[in-house]
Amino acid sequence: MGFISTMSIIVTGGAGFIGANFVLDWLAQRDEPVINLDKLTYAGNLENLASLQGDARHIFVQGDIGDAALVDGLLAKHRPRAVINFAAESHVDRSINGPSEFIQTNIVGTFYLLESVRAYWETLEGETKAGFRYLHVSTDEVYGSLTKDAPAFSETSRYEPNSPYSASKAASDHLVRAYHHTYGLPVLTTNCSNNYGPYHFPEKLIPLCILNAVAGKTLPIYGDGRQIRDWLYVKDHCSAICLVLESGRVGETYNIGGWNEKANLDVVETLCAILDELKPRIDGRSYKSQIAFVKDRPGHDRRYAINAGKLALELGWKPQETFETGINKTVVWYLENQRWVTNVTSGTYRNWIGKQYGI
Ligand code: NAD
Ligand code: DAU
Repeated sequence: MGFISTMSIIVTGGAGFIGANFVLDWLAQRDEPVINLDKLTYAGNLENLASLQGDARHIFVQGDIGDAALVDGLLAKHRPRAVINFAAESHVDRSINGPSEFIQTNIVGTFYLLESVRAYWETLEGETKAGFRYLHVSTDEVYGSLTKDAPAFSETSRYEPNSPYSASKAASDHLVRAYHHTYGLPVLTTNCSNNYGPYHFPEKLIPLCILNAVAGKTLPIYGDGRQIRDWLYVKDHCSAICLVLESGRVGETYNIGGWNEKANLDVVETLCAILDELKPRIDGRSYKSQIAFVKDRPGHDRRYAINAGKLALELGWKPQETFETGINKTVVWYLENQRWVTNVTSGTYRNWIGKQYGI
């Protein structure tokens, strides 16, 4: 590392799955420092950022996006040119079991963050003020559920959130929109489909099934397993966010997706087939024999699909990975990063798994 840029960005939630991938990719591509504000909830894991230890371009601060005094202080001290908000409670099942933290962080936290950012932005002048951006990372779940043949979600699709998680994200999207329309805050919003890849916390379908498979445990499929998600490799999500940050039109929203609609059961069977090749079971049977159909998620959305045409057309973005290349990389990553896996699975994660699956 040579020259350190005088500009910087603040990333919130940068110790979580997507945020950590974003910080790692950002600093692999440029020298502009990142101030990483993360509360380190059960989903925040500093081991995701272990490769940045001793790197002066990464400044980690443990704290809450809703802590106005802390955020005001960080903005005043570092004077970033952008704030990118990844921080959220992100797991739908947890939001069903206990929505309160989702309301607190995703709605109230976003509100306080917006207030701090607005106050800071109003102190800026000239080009610095004109160039400042607040990027809000959101989800396709705000649009609700699609029927089998309905067209994919576009930026003008109606908001119809169905879970406490998606409702809290929808509320935060509306706040961000309002801060642009009312105060002129230069915001950008991205609504992305399901991500997968390295550092994915193993409460979500893909990492859960990879780790359960090799541990000889059940691969739990909710309901009939025919629910459809549109999968995107996490690094493609990060590249889209960078592009929107640099070239997106202020006040606009951009959908991000991988054109990879897959039924859950097909995803899990694909994982099993890859593992059968890479790490065959001792008894010679397929990992598919570990699949079990379990009680469905209440209010389970049937299908998500993203039309990312606006991002492709306006900004020229396209994903680098197909589902096949991305999912293979992901399985290999989990097999090769045993220390990360062991440390994650020995923590609070165990308590959650016990509560959710009664094991
Ligand atoms: P994650 O749960 O893995 O990580 C969330 C991070 O935010 C953690 O590091 C956590 O410690 C931190 N955090 C939580 N509350 C905080 C608070 N009050 N203050 C500061 N930090 C806090 O989530 P993820 O999967 O990386 O998702 C990141 C963002 O992307 C979220 O906003 C989510 O809604 C959105 N998103 C996720 C996906 C997906 O497939 N995972 C898809 C689309 C959008
Ligand atoms: O669509 C974007 C969203 O994708 C993000 O906004 C969320 O933060 C992220 O968690 C993800 O939400 P999902 O609910 O789609 O992801 P999850 O991995 O929890 O579940 C994927 C699908 O698999 C879903 O249909 C539920 C199902 N599932 C999940 C688990 C954990 C199972 O069948 N069994 C399971 O054990």
